[in-house]
Amino acid sequence: MRTEDFSARAHRVIPGGAHTYSKGDDVLPADAPQAFVRGKGARVWTLDGRELVDWGMGINSVLIGHAEDEIDDAAVAALRDGQNFSRPSPLEVDLAEAAVALFDGMDMVKFAKNGSDANDAAIRLARAVTGRTLIAYDEEAPFLSIHDWFIGNTVMNAGVPEAVAGLARGFRFNDLGSVEALFNEHGPRLAAVILEPCRDVRPRPGFLEGVRALCDRNGTVLIFDEMVTGFRYSLNGAASFLGVRPDLMTVGKGMANGYALSALLGTRSYMDRGGIHHAHPRCFLLSTTHGAERSALAAGLAAIRLHRRERVVERLASVGRRLIAGIDACAKRHGVQEYVSAASDFACRPVLKCCGPDKVPSAEYRTLFIQEMLRRGVFMPWICPSFRHGDAELDRTLEALDGTCSVYARAIDAGAVVGLLEGRPGKPVFRKYN
Ligand SMILES: Cc1ncc(COP(=O)(O)O)c(C=O)c1O
Repeated sequence: MRTEDFSARAHRVIPGGAHTYSKGDDVLPADAPQAFVRGKGARVWTLDGRELVDWGMGINSVLIGHAEDEIDDAAVAALRDGQNFSRPSPLEVDLAEAAVALFDGMDMVKFAKNGSDANDAAIRLARAVTGRTLIAYDEEAPFLSIHDWFIGNTVMNAGVPEAVAGLARGFRFNDLGSVEALFNEHGPRLAAVILEPCRDVRPRPGFLEGVRALCDRNGTVLIFDEMVTGFRYSLNGAASFLGVRPDLMTVGKGMANGYALSALLGTRSYMDRGGIHHAHPRCFLLSTTHGAERSALAAGLAAIRLHRRERVVERLASVGRRLIAGIDACAKRHGVQEYVSAASDFACRPVLKCCGPDKVPSAEYRTLFIQEMLRRGVFMPWICPSFRHGDAELDRTLEALDGTCSVYARAIDAGAVVGLLEGRPGKPVFRKYN
């Protein structure tokens, strides 16, 4: 199939042309590859046969590498014995035991296929246990769920009743005062606080501890969304080194190296409400046809084995450290260090920042950066280090950065991307109109 036919075909049958908005044409440079047909390790291949170094890594889900033989072999072996039965398979218990063993204080687990459903289940459980309706969430989080409580509070809220959106109240990460204000106003009505325990910025001393204390004082359930941090910052979750334990937590993304698998974990006293050994009203806790798909469970078990044996998390941090240093050095060489950076408090999660001449993050300059990296064989819409990013991938990336920073410097000097950026700038996913 010719590349130019693909996008038209995709948009005819798929709204937005892709099943995930952040993979869409509109968010990337106009001449970005329209599709990837294959991946191996830290490389992907485009429809027209180009090989690229990949830093997107399945929207941060492929932390080990594309098409990792050991994981795929385990998944294939499981699916050859049947993908789905009408009674549990031992794989469910094997992975459940392995998962609760990873996360301190978590006694029970339920599996799902995506993070949004796991977060939603955590919220429903918190509401069932507390008998309350309101939830408090980190309104600065780029994304927490596809469901109404989160989407209803974005600008892209068409179709979400105000009454539902209004049940979620925002606070700001690292701003304990903003959490206290919510508790002062709504304390006895708050069922849960949900947040990522950290992103690229370390929690301020006392922030998470303060949130924990507010929850304890008010009988509110604390939920950590470890969709990105779990299996990446630590195999045992970020909570393991941040020193604050949630009541419920969710993981997904890197749990099974790209296979569709997520989980809600929690203390027995809460999770038991989803079971059959209590006298309370029954709580419908994550019961989906495909929740325990056998290939994904086998992939999850194989991924945990590989993580332990190869110390994957350490590798992610060392790849990230080299890349952050490389980007910094290259930007300095070209005099654009105040405009291009990848600094982060956590090396495993470098954060690509592309600013315009006013030193404020700019969609135009970001699109130019991604465009120039692509032209030099590197796909870097954001930065997700994986176990399979080796010296060859890092070297090729640094070489591409050199050329990219040279173009970037010209655009900064010129005060505009005109004549350098092909087509329109990428748009944010969350916008009111197209
Ligand atoms: C922090 C966080 N929570 C939840 C989600 C939702 O996960 P999913 O896309 O698997 O539904 C995401 C997805 O990007 C995320 O980054």
